[in-house]
Amino acid sequence: MTHINNNGMPRLDKCGDAYRLIVNERPFISLAGEVHNSSSSSLEYMNKNVWERLVYFNCNTAVIPVSWELIEPLEGTFDFTLVQGLIEGARKHNLKLVFIWFGMWKNSHSTYVPAWVKRDTLRFPRVQSANGKKLPIVSCHSEEALQADSKAFAELMRFIRQIDSTEQTVIMIQVENEVGFLGTARDCSPQADKLFEENVPAELIQYLKDHAEHLNAFLKKHWDSQGTDLLGWTQLFGSAAEEIFTAWHMSRFIDQVAAAGKAEYHLPMFVNVWLKQYEEQDPGQYPTGGPNQNVIDIWKAGGPHIDIIAPDIYLNEFAQVCEIYDRPDNPLFIPETRRDSVTAANVFYAIGEHQALGYTPFGIETMDNGVDPWSAGFLPPNHFMVMESTGVGPLLSKSYELLHHMTPVITQYYGTRQMRGILQDTAYPSAVRLGGYRFQLRFKNRLNSESAPAGGLIIAVSDHDYIIAGHGFSVEFTSMEPGKSAEFISIDEGWYEDGNWVPGRRLNGDEYRVSLGSEPQVLKVSLYSH
Ligand code: DGJ
Repeated sequence: MTHINNNGMPRLDKCGDAYRLIVNERPFISLAGEVHNSSSSSLEYMNKNVWERLVYFNCNTAVIPVSWELIEPLEGTFDFTLVQGLIEGARKHNLKLVFIWFGMWKNSHSTYVPAWVKRDTLRFPRVQSANGKKLPIVSCHSEEALQADSKAFAELMRFIRQIDSTEQTVIMIQVENEVGFLGTARDCSPQADKLFEENVPAELIQYLKDHAEHLNAFLKKHWDSQGTDLLGWTQLFGSAAEEIFTAWHMSRFIDQVAAAGKAEYHLPMFVNVWLKQYEEQDPGQYPTGGPNQNVIDIWKAGGPHIDIIAPDIYLNEFAQVCEIYDRPDNPLFIPETRRDSVTAANVFYAIGEHQALGYTPFGIETMDNGVDPWSAGFLPPNHFMVMESTGVGPLLSKSYELLHHMTPVITQYYGTRQMRGILQDTAYPSAVRLGGYRFQLRFKNRLNSESAPAGGLIIAVSDHDYIIAGHGFSVEFTSMEPGKSAEFISIDEGWYEDGNWVPGRRLNGDEYRVSLGSEPQVLKVSLYSH
């Protein structure tokens, strides 16, 4: 992560052992939705089908693709009409923007490159698999490809600076999308073979040595740390050599694209991850060399201009993935996730337990909708998508509203260890310790029932005072002082309005318990031990 003093700009600030995202000089949590891949290619489509949906879900941010082929249709001729329209559309709906650069690669392949790149396979060589097949992926070993991608990305960043550096609607940039090679572990073209025969670069070895204690299990297993420095990839990394080779070169490429963009306009930048789905998957079956669980450290070594490695979490093991990507050198930011019944619980957990900087269900405009854009096609004027509510949307919408208004409070506790997340999940304990008490959680509905799982967060304001937010659970307290029992002093219902507490009922009598219903709510609880 490059640390420069970027006061006044959207930026990441270190606080304790966590990070905060600062936007317009205030801590911000991106409560976002990502739109479907093709939506932002038409401003009319956005106006008709997307912006209002983001508002309905109480998103404060939209995550939106900008595709290379649409901004540089002819080499050196740029057209930013779409980008400008997207920024204006976001402003009109009071939303911040995270742009996704669909540049050289999107989900492994190079389908978003302009026609002049697609056609010129000599200047922009394609990756070759071991059996000589050319894949629809531009090679990350091509200097021409690096120059062309960097130039287009830098032009985009310059344009954003020109029209947005005062208002700062655009707050972060994703560079490329779910990169890595599908179909091969590395490029096997003659040019790439030559690189693969060279020794491992000294800077990578130095990084591994400097971080030896903290490397993940995959690298500890595959890096021959006792070997001499002048070794080739296979000698040093054995059976993992091809994946690590690709990760190194891919991260170096994207780091240089990010650096070229930052030189024009210094916004926080991240890469997103197509995760390895299960241990037994072979390289090439998942986008190999992308920043998946195995090679985060290689990407950290190769990508100092990439601020965050951000997992797209569609797996059931949500909590485990958060744990892997929340590291002292990497804040948790979730640029894509599921839009089904778990999504409203997961957002509370990611923020409460891992101090996430952002959360983003994918395909937000069709959430709760039953109609996907590829089946809806282009709708004629005055026709709207059919809305068929499944009930998940209102829960997310209310959760986002609550979390947005609580942001000034929640972010005060980032990096303090005074906050925990709650998640109804098999991997999560049903009891939590925080402040002077232990919390026994009881969930209102059974896991995997028709109802959405529970999620929440607890903040220990002091050893005896708590803020508890979320839905679908109740809490019993035990004192951590031996021999003492816990009693309530008070339980208050209420709401936050821009960080300020708006009191509701004082709960007593029949309501003298900490119980959060199926709608997201917030309680303030004071306890004493006796
Ligand atoms: C992950 C990709 O990053 C997105 O752009 C999108 O294609 C989704 N998958 C589709 O589920």
